[in-house]
Amino acid sequence: MNPGVPTENRVGRSVGIIGAGRLGLVVARHALASGYQVRITASAAPGRPLERLGPRVTVTSPSSVAEGVEVVILAVPFHRFRELPLGCLAGHIVVDAMNHWPSVDETIIGFDSTTPTSVLVGRALPSDVLLVKALNHLSYHQLRDRARPPAAPDRIALAVSGDDPGAVARIEDLVTDLGFDPVAAGSLDSSDRQQPGSLLFGSILDASTMRHLLDIGAPPAGVGAGLPMSRRERRAGTPTACCESPLAAGNPNVRFRPVP
Ligand SMILES: NC(=O)c1ccc[n+]([C@@H]2O[C@H](COP(=O)([O-])OP(=O)(O)OC[C@H]3O[C@@H](n4cnc5c(N)ncnc54)[C@H](OP(=O)(O)O)[C@@H]3O)[C@@H](O)[C@H]2O)c1
Repeated sequence: MNPGVPTENRVGRSVGIIGAGRLGLVVARHALASGYQVRITASAAPGRPLERLGPRVTVTSPSSVAEGVEVVILAVPFHRFRELPLGCLAGHIVVDAMNHWPSVDETIIGFDSTTPTSVLVGRALPSDVLLVKALNHLSYHQLRDRARPPAAPDRIALAVSGDDPGAVARIEDLVTDLGFDPVAAGSLDSSDRQQPGSLLFGSILDASTMRHLLDIGAPPAGVGAGLPMSRRERRAGTPTACCESPLAAGNPNVRFRPVP
């Protein structure tokens, strides 16, 4: 783990996480490494990995996870979020890190696949929640392995979408602290641009490439989509440039890299 730089003024910040699964634990570890206090839920098996996270972690219930924190991250399977005590999130900034996966999320009665899922989430939340979509478009192992200090040349970008500029700015700060470059990606109405099936989803991109993709929906000049990785890149397990999009190319061995 190599998260963002912990700074004096960030120590003491806190975050709540609902869901201590694959995503929730990675986010918790990066937040702790940046000096945050973490409140995290464990519905079934308290202990084990959570205990090893250290003294700045409070394991709690979904109904009390929001106590004393400004930001709560939803990291449960999409089809489960309506079971949460959503009223407890009133007045908070809530990060929707969830994705709808048909194979995992069963058939949700009345599910509207034409509406961005964060808009659906927002309709179920108290009206004074400031909802932001973030932390959803890379896999937990990409998020685990690709966090970097701010000046690192291979620092990658995470998209942040939301309707409230103050809440978006706050989550941009959080994303920075977690070890990534935040890119403002627009409103919740357009947050399907970071959902499964989008060009951003699963793509390792630097911030300027991500902004370009969001602006014009295509890679910038000089960056080719679908170029096979070199043998050296495959051996190293990472492309030489910090732009890769297995999903966009539809092939895990095909990534963005600079056109020679
Ligand atoms: N995995 C990834 O790479 C990744 C990346 C980005 C976004 N996401 C999204 O993040 C969400 C979580 O994915 P995940 O892979 O972390 O799932 P996961 O490993 O299955 O963990 C889900 C967590 O949610 C908890 N949970 C489920 N229902 C709950 C409820 N009603 N109340 C409280 N806690 C509940 C589970 O606790 P119990 O096991 O104790 O029930 C578990 O700790 C999904 O929406 C996914 O699409 C995942």
